[in-house]
Order: sequence, then C-alpha cells, then structure tokens
Amino acid sequence: MTTITGLLSDLDRVLLSTEQIHARIREMAAQIEADYAGQTLTVVALMDGALFFVSDLLRQIDLPMQIVTLGASSYHGSTQSSGEITIQWPKNAQFKGQHVLLLDDILDTGLTLTAISERLRQEQPESLRTAVLLDKKRLRTHEASPDYCGFEIADEFVVGYGMDYQGRFRNLPCIGILKP
Ligand code: IMP
Ligand code: MG
Repeated sequence: MTTITGLLSDLDRVLLSTEQIHARIREMAAQIEADYAGQTLTVVALMDGALFFVSDLLRQIDLPMQIVTLGASSYHGSTQSSGEITIQWPKNAQFKGQHVLLLDDILDTGLTLTAISERLRQEQPESLRTAVLLDKKRLRTHEASPDYCGFEIADEFVVGYGMDYQGRFRNLPCIGILKP
C-alpha cells in the first residue's frame, strides 16, 4: 500500500495504524455476523465520517443486508460539537419491522447517536443496535453506549480513516492526532 506521506507530516502522532484498524474491524464483522445469523440487516451508515469504516466492515459480513446512508453533521468545521445536529433523512427508506444497525465513525458527546436512534425508533424497527469504530472516553452530554465498539480512545480530536478536520484528512489510511 502507498503511504500518504504528505498528510502524515501534519500529524503529531499516529493513534491507530491501518493494520490495527483492519484487524479490529475483522473481529467486529465476525461478531456482528454471528449475532445476526439467519437475519437480514438494514444498515444505516452515517456520512461522511463512517465512509471507510462501513465499507471495510460491511464487505466482511456475510449476511443479506440493505444499506442506507444518512447525512448528519454537528461539528460544522470546528473541533467541538456545536450541540445542534442537522439530519438529512432519506426519503423512501423503510425501517418498520427491520433489524437496524446504526453505524458511525466516532461517539463523542453522544448527540448524534442518541438523536438518530430516537428518530429511528419512531419508525418501529424490530431491533436497533449501534456500532462505532471509536468511543471517546469523556463526559457525554447525551448518554449513549454502543452495542459494538472498535476502540476506546482518550478525549482528543482525531483525523483519518474517514474523519476530518475542516473537510481534510478523511483519506488518511490510519487514525492520528493533528499537530497543535
Ligand atoms: P457526537 O454527536 O458529539 O457524539 O459526535 C459524533 C460526530 O462528531 C461523529 O459522527 C464525527 O463525525 C464527529 N466527531 C466527533 N469527534 C471527532 C473527532 O475527534 N474527529 C473528527 N470528527 C469527530
Ligand atoms: Mg459524523
């Protein structure tokens, strides 16, 4: 694999290597596949941050599934949540009676996951679970604990593997902390 050295030079340090991320995603996929054996999944993937997480995870889950992408943003270009969330709800998605698995890149204040979970519950799914690649250990403004979690991390702003700072660094293949 080629290394994106230009982007790497903006990092203070690498928190999780590409290999670490891929290994953990393989474990998560196996767990999800076992838990949902015999069922059809409806995956709700939050864009844009979960882009690479969902693409790597879902291609390793050998189950019938539908994939719905949903746009949600709360950061609006800063390194801190604005406390308000904008959701672009899909027009013709059906969640009633489905086994819904909500996927996001990172759980921070909990606002995104709780707001979208609440909205999804109104659609009366058969079941609803959540999976995040990263769980930031911090005081949450909205109580949320994911059913599946890749890594627990400290309360630091991270970029890479789909996660951005002002629209940049999403294509970094590892996860890192930016230089101050
Ligand atoms: P929450 O609503 O505060 O839990 O934040 C969740 C959303 O904020 C995630 O979907 C990410 O898009 C974004 N986010 C939270 N922390 C970070 C970070 O450290 N780096 C990049 N994006 C983040
Ligand atoms: Mg996000």
